[in-house]
Amino acid sequence: MTGKAGCDPTLAKRLFIKTYGCQMNVYDSARMADVLAPLGYAPTDAPESADMVVLNTCHIREKASEKVFSELGRLKNLRRDRRDAGADMIIAVAGCVAQAEGAEIQRRAPHVDIVVGPQAYHRLPELVARAERAADPDRRGVMNTDFPVESKFDFLPESVTPPGVSAFLSVQEGCDKFCTFCVVPYTRGAEFSRPFAAIEAEARRLVERGTREITLLGQNVNAWHGVTPNDENSGEEPWGLGRLIRHLARIDGLERIRYTTSHPRDMDDALIEAHGAEPKLMPFLHLPVQSGSDRVLAAMNRQHTAADYRAIIAKLRNARPDLALSSDFIVGFPGESETDFQATLDLIEQVVFAQAYSFKYSARPGTPAAAMPDQVPEPVKAERLARVQALIARQQVAFNNAMRGREVDVLVDRRGRYPGQFGGRSPWLQAVHLAADFDPTNSILRVEIVDVHPNSLAGRIVDSPRGRSGVRAAERLSA
Ligand code: 5AD
Ligand code: SF4
Repeated sequence: MTGKAGCDPTLAKRLFIKTYGCQMNVYDSARMADVLAPLGYAPTDAPESADMVVLNTCHIREKASEKVFSELGRLKNLRRDRRDAGADMIIAVAGCVAQAEGAEIQRRAPHVDIVVGPQAYHRLPELVARAERAADPDRRGVMNTDFPVESKFDFLPESVTPPGVSAFLSVQEGCDKFCTFCVVPYTRGAEFSRPFAAIEAEARRLVERGTREITLLGQNVNAWHGVTPNDENSGEEPWGLGRLIRHLARIDGLERIRYTTSHPRDMDDALIEAHGAEPKLMPFLHLPVQSGSDRVLAAMNRQHTAADYRAIIAKLRNARPDLALSSDFIVGFPGESETDFQATLDLIEQVVFAQAYSFKYSARPGTPAAAMPDQVPEPVKAERLARVQALIARQQVAFNNAMRGREVDVLVDRRGRYPGQFGGRSPWLQAVHLAADFDPTNSILRVEIVDVHPNSLAGRIVDSPRGRSGVRAAERLSA
């Protein structure tokens, strides 16, 4: 064999990335693997055999960030074992904890070699090279949590690993909303919209490489706005997300579009119309409302009322009657009374969700809500969380049960544990598993839902792509 050492997989350095938190982090972890590939790092699932471990962290709630420090304790021991065996390990902390608590990490966990914030991943190769070359392996500490004005989008190379049939495409970063409970505006920086041309080019590349479903990602994805290259000097209004979606939908071979996470204030008419007009836009929307009480919404600085939210939902359902909804709720925000909490339950009863996430309020240092009076006692938060979760679970079960006997289109994206088993997603993002005597991965199948489990549906293929040249271009619903 005459190849360079870096080409021999047995000589590749192994990279283990552990991802906490949101889908932005899942996307970022893949991009970190991409920037480190040219340095000879190949992904592994086994931290104990890794030459480099990256914790891609989440700071949104206290529990999420505390997990990082306990994981760092475990890694310290793992590295000691590796050093005893004559190997080594670079330990990096990335993500929002790195951004918000870089100095604290270096104080509490001095064995960490690299601390890198979400806007600086394009600098990882340099940081890793510096850590690899450090004379003293116990004093490598390199830190980059700069907040550059430019976006990292412009610096990250194209992915070397083939994308999945369902892929994320990051179009927007950061947040200017400053909800009083939330750290994101501090850890992820100001709202930034990725330029139109770069988004379109990445979407086309993904589809050329086999992607059929794209989820447009952003902390406030529907705050995205941009001008197309043709419009730059025309004085035309910038495009919003609705127009972007309708434009991307014209890409042949792209079958499904989704977007997350959105804010009610940025739900403009063009985006709502896109839900009615564009069949490739899937009938599922995650639209966080946080609370059903106007008093609490005002204290949260959400800048919308519960009635505003209901009105948006009514417009959306008018545009797309089969739209399924998801949301986020915080219980026990400072000052939340039983009446306020009841207003949240009322809103859930009225809107009816297909699924939703709910959290106990967690005081985050530096946010305005952490300093508010009337913090709600832990047992009250726990009791409210249990009630809200029971209600959401009932609605989720009802939503899934209503699928029994219906025919739906399933994008098959994975093989199951046993031969002949496969899994995919319905248009409403439900996991569907099915059996097939051929390999249907990467295709869209017509499936009858024959059974309903707590977290998934069981389907039977009624129409397979065998014998047909193509698959369905758009989702169609059985009535
Ligand atoms: N406490 C509890 N939940 C929070 N979230 C954000 N910040 C906090 C906090 N301090 C929740 C919100 C948000 C979701 C991503 O996390 O519901 O929509
Ligand atoms: Fe956080 Fe509010 Fe911005 Fe969402 S909109 S990221 S909850 S500050």
